[in-house]
Amino acid sequence: MDYQHILDTIHDEMSYRDVTGKVASYIPELAKIDRKKFGMHVYCGDQQHFCFGDSKELFSIQSISKVFTLAMAMKLLGEDLWDRLAVEPSGDPFNSLTQLEYESGIPRNPFINAGALVISDILVDQLEDPKQELLDFVRKITGDSSIQYDETVANSEKSTGYRNIALVNYIKALGNIKCDVEPIVDFYFHQCSLAMTCEQLSKAFMIFANKGRILETNEKILKPKTVKRINALMQTCGFYDEAGEFSFQVGLPGKSGVGGGIVAIHPDNYSVAVWSPILNEKGNSELGMKALERFTTLTGVSVF
Ligand code: DON
Repeated sequence: MDYQHILDTIHDEMSYRDVTGKVASYIPELAKIDRKKFGMHVYCGDQQHFCFGDSKELFSIQSISKVFTLAMAMKLLGEDLWDRLAVEPSGDPFNSLTQLEYESGIPRNPFINAGALVISDILVDQLEDPKQELLDFVRKITGDSSIQYDETVANSEKSTGYRNIALVNYIKALGNIKCDVEPIVDFYFHQCSLAMTCEQLSKAFMIFANKGRILETNEKILKPKTVKRINALMQTCGFYDEAGEFSFQVGLPGKSGVGGGIVAIHPDNYSVAVWSPILNEKGNSELGMKALERFTTLTGVSVF
């Protein structure tokens, strides 16, 4: 497969001029990003790398971080985690509060904000220094100790994070949050502020394409069963109320963030990250989705 030729074709075919969405502005710091940014990176099971554009530029990974914290919570709690969370697509926007009332504070899945905040509660409750342990986890699976939180982005989200603060209070009132609200949202705003490149994200997500092992060292990080479950959740819930559309167009398990990043994997084959900060109305990268649709069409390879 000539991945570089396929990536060059995608880069030639598409640009920010083809899409009409907007960069995220409800987190003030994210509104400052240049809408022209566009990069893509593929990391293959034979350790080859292919890329184009702004693939080595740091951006805010936002909700992509929910896959890392889910992996950490599954390592800690195993199947007991599912007493606190469901595993169904929500069909609602990522920051919705509505289902919690009639579902007794059990979030529909770990990738909507409600679910990620329950996971934050678990990590804050169980870990001595959750922010450092998340950083250590991400640095280890990426093989890159330079990865950092972006404090400016974390503080910017804190200053306008009324919905997430409301979600934690609401779930706590319904009995599914143990810790105090402040440390939970502080951890959550930091995980969302992680700054990574497409290259780093494709390396980090290789553990989900490689049955839980770091490709270069073969070190086991997650059980194959855990990876099966995380990939199933990425496939069914990774794009919120657009999960069906992403499956339909792209056909890979993946996760998006409002920083404009998307990472997707093909089990045993590759991990691919794309970044364009222009979002569609569902909060997913508009150009990123189109680029991944072209990628699985031109390669002729998807999980379907
Ligand atoms: O909690 C929020 O609203 C953001 N920190 C993350 C949301 C997000 O990335 C949704 N993804 N497409």
